[in-house]
Amino acid sequence: MNPTQSDAVNKPLKSLDEWEDFVVQHYPEPSAESAAKKPAVGVAPDKKQEEFRNYEAEARPTVREFYRLNHTHQTHDFVKAKHREFLGLNRMTMGVWEAAEYLNQLVDDSDPDTDLSQLQHLLQTAEHLRRDGQPRWMVMTGFVHDLGKILCLWGEPQWAVVGDTFVTGCAYSPKIVFPKFFEANPDSTNPVYQTRNGVYEEGCGLDNVLLSWGHDEYIYNVCKDYLPKEGLAMLRYHSFYPWHRESEYGHLLNDKDRALLPWVQKFNPYDLYTKSHTKPDAVALRPYYEDLIREFFPEKIRW
Ligand SMILES: [Fe+2]
Ligand SMILES: [Fe+2]
Repeated sequence: MNPTQSDAVNKPLKSLDEWEDFVVQHYPEPSAESAAKKPAVGVAPDKKQEEFRNYEAEARPTVREFYRLNHTHQTHDFVKAKHREFLGLNRMTMGVWEAAEYLNQLVDDSDPDTDLSQLQHLLQTAEHLRRDGQPRWMVMTGFVHDLGKILCLWGEPQWAVVGDTFVTGCAYSPKIVFPKFFEANPDSTNPVYQTRNGVYEEGCGLDNVLLSWGHDEYIYNVCKDYLPKEGLAMLRYHSFYPWHRESEYGHLLNDKDRALLPWVQKFNPYDLYTKSHTKPDAVALRPYYEDLIREFFPEKIRW
């Protein structure tokens, strides 16, 4: 494979923001009017069938290609292999602020004048939580939530770092975006994986299922000894839109998941709808965050 072909497979998106912009379009911020009609916070209002078709037609070709690769290659076995490869956390030892600066090297083809750097997105999310008076552990969670994107710096393709996550090893929820791209996934012809429960038991709990692999599962594992369970759920499931926005996979949940869902939903708007072109001043904010980091994390942690 020549470098150009490899780039097409690894980096169909001009920037990771293209995926996030698509998610914002697909799940627009609920207006006050529609929020009043909605039964529960964080649950998408009913959409007509034709609206579901529209998002596919309107998506940028780069985004479509990204989802095609993601849905084709994220198999149950692929996820198991990535857990073995990365969850031993044997790659690096570094502090949390250091990791944020390390991630900030991730520069893609986005417009440097208008797009936010990775560090700026983390600071905007965390600062919005702080302004709203949310607890310090939640501000901390906001600051670290996307640090798992360092996987891109280690050569992982975009489709194995970002994307709306879904459960592997059982039937695909029809609410996952671009469902037809699953036709090319080898799991789609494995009869064991295509029943409602697949390899799982009813009510087994999300701790026991394998979601498609990406930055969420990775950062959850990096942080799992240091943050409260509500913050850890925010990290692990923040891209799990079929669950926290579409209310899918109810048959796999246990009481712990049902108790944590409102926290995951509470976090989502801070991630999706806080992007503004007013860039946070990282130099001025650093002392506050260094202090916050010391409250929750040791000086160095394993990555
Ligand atoms: Fe994320
Ligand atoms: Fe984010």
